[in-house]
Amino acid sequence: MPYRQELVARHPSLQASVVPAPVKPVVSTDWRKGLPVLTSHHVTLRELRASDAPSLFALLTTEEVSRFISPPPTTVDGFERFIAWTLRQRQAGSYVCFAVTIDSTDTAIGIFQIRELESGFGAAEWGFAIGSAYWGTGVFSEGAKLMLKFVFDEVGVHRLEARAVVQNGRGNGALKKIGAIQEGLLRKSFEKNGERLDQALWTILAEDWNAMNTQAVILH
Ligand SMILES: CC(C)(COP(=O)(O)OP(=O)(O)OC[C@H]1O[C@@H](n2cnc3c(N)ncnc32)[C@H](O)[C@@H]1OP(=O)(O)O)[C@@H](O)C(=O)NCCC(=O)NCCS
Repeated sequence: MPYRQELVARHPSLQASVVPAPVKPVVSTDWRKGLPVLTSHHVTLRELRASDAPSLFALLTTEEVSRFISPPPTTVDGFERFIAWTLRQRQAGSYVCFAVTIDSTDTAIGIFQIRELESGFGAAEWGFAIGSAYWGTGVFSEGAKLMLKFVFDEVGVHRLEARAVVQNGRGNGALKKIGAIQEGLLRKSFEKNGERLDQALWTILAEDWNAMNTQAVILH
């Protein structure tokens, strides 16, 4: 992730954010019928719309963003088809993709997605990509916390996996920072430009997430 095989078809205000972002309770919804809007201090996760295609195309197809992930669609039309596909998969109950927006703007600057690894979403894999102008700003951490709350509390996932190419310093650093545990190394498991690369396998269990939240309540 991001982008399934079948698809191959600085923000300053955030840097100043030293207060831990409160993650508002997710209002329980049937996410298969439509995704809830998840909001924190600066970040909102919401359903993708066809009109997000131009900004996602501009921000997520750069070399630095796409270097270590499956190839993104190569045109705005391709992103529109990707977005339509994400909505169909969400309705089918096997996949969810949120757009990332910040502050009062509604522009999609990235995506967070999960796909089920076992029937009923007991185990899932997540992936994420954010425009490089927003790297190191706190967008990832805020968005990831919203996503994890949704994944564990709403979808009911008990084991969440992520795979990151070993050379992807930011991807691995981000997963470690959010509390994921590296379980192992998937040797030569990702092919990019004819090269087979090793990936780190990172996991977060529902009990890890509950412990992180209990700790956060005790600390604050
Ligand atoms: C992955 C991604 C969403 C993370 O967002 P981000 O804003 O870059 O992440 P953050 O800056 O919050 O966290 C990255 C951490 O990795 C650290 N890091 C950066 N380069 C590193 C390296 N070479 N080795 C180890 N850690 C590194 C950073 O210092 C940071 O930790 P810190 O905040 O404690 O200093 C973003 O980089 C991205 O979209 N990358 C392209 C797509 C991608 O690779 N997706 C992930 C697939 S698993």
